[in-house]
Amino acid sequence: MASDSAVTTKGSAVAGYLKGKSIAVTGAGRGIGRAVALACAAEGANVVVADYGVGIDGGDPTSEVADAVVGEIAAAGGTAVAVADTVTTMEGGSRIVQTAVDQWGRIDGVVCVAGILRERMLFNMAEDEWDPVIETHLKGHFTVFRHAAAVMRKQQSGALVGFTSGAFAGSVAQANYSAAKGGIVSLVRSAAAGLYKYGVTANCIAPIARTRMSANVPMELAEMGDAEDVAPMVAFLLGDDARHITGQVYTAVGGKIAVWNQPVEVRAMYKDGRWTPEEIAARLDSSVGQERMGVIDRLAAMAAAAAAGDKPNA
Ligand SMILES: NC(=O)c1ccc[n+]([C@@H]2O[C@H](COP(=O)([O-])OP(=O)(O)OC[C@H]3O[C@@H](n4cnc5c(N)ncnc54)[C@H](O)[C@@H]3O)[C@@H](O)[C@H]2O)c1
Repeated sequence: MASDSAVTTKGSAVAGYLKGKSIAVTGAGRGIGRAVALACAAEGANVVVADYGVGIDGGDPTSEVADAVVGEIAAAGGTAVAVADTVTTMEGGSRIVQTAVDQWGRIDGVVCVAGILRERMLFNMAEDEWDPVIETHLKGHFTVFRHAAAVMRKQQSGALVGFTSGAFAGSVAQANYSAAKGGIVSLVRSAAAGLYKYGVTANCIAPIARTRMSANVPMELAEMGDAEDVAPMVAFLLGDDARHITGQVYTAVGGKIAVWNQPVEVRAMYKDGRWTPEEIAARLDSSVGQERMGVIDRLAAMAAAAAAGDKPNA
């Protein structure tokens, strides 16, 4: 992977980077969402702190979680309002956006960070492990983006920021989460395409950070950082310097920011007329072949290490 030179300064952004902007952050009560909400407020934005205050699996909602972050922002001299509603309903998404519009007359950015986990191997996964994960992540982006986009289209400006995960490229025990995160990438690209002519951008962050969610992942992650490390990239995407950036997925972890590629066809094979399965079997491996899949490569390496008697690393 190509990389630019490391920036070693501590890089605290100039206060006021988002001065006067009206921004809603979902999942803002804990982890990365909280860090994003605090950073936006510290940079001068008025912030809707939207969080349902649920457990890691989506249960036991409480409004205390959103209220606590609003209290932190107020104590630091910032402006925020809490919405302890769920992103899984159209009413919840509407209320989050409308709260910003009612309070401050407009909505300049929405950041969808809310998320839950229900891990299970695909062959054991129950419907009530699939549906809530898709509803919280994928539908939870739709409900907020949908209402924000309608206002931003009229304003002729705005920024949508989604949260995906490296797991969108495939996951062993999180088919529900991976599918939702892949859907979010496609939703963000579609929002970027559909809103381009209205001056509204849509981008995605694939974060890695120490939170209760990452603590729940059963393997050691090679890269790690703090939730506060993710926030500056989000602030940048919400700010005036990023109006030309849309349809992108950026990893943010510690001091690393990386851009993901866009899906395109890479190789093709042709014949005059229709292929037979036998003809495809004879040609495919040596012509179009396959593209490398990181998760499968790692599983194959672990199996090879185990077969050689070495202790496999995740
Ligand atoms: N932490 C990581 O390393 C990591 C890696 C990849 C992706 N992500 C993604 O980043 C986002 C934030 O993750 P985190 O680690 O900060 O998680 P977290 O569990 O610390 O925080 C998630 C927050 O979302 C809220 N939430 C859950 N369901 C909600 C709903 N229906 N409506 C409103 N709020 C709801 C929770 O109450 C919680 O405060 C998630 O989308 C996650 O999938 C995190």
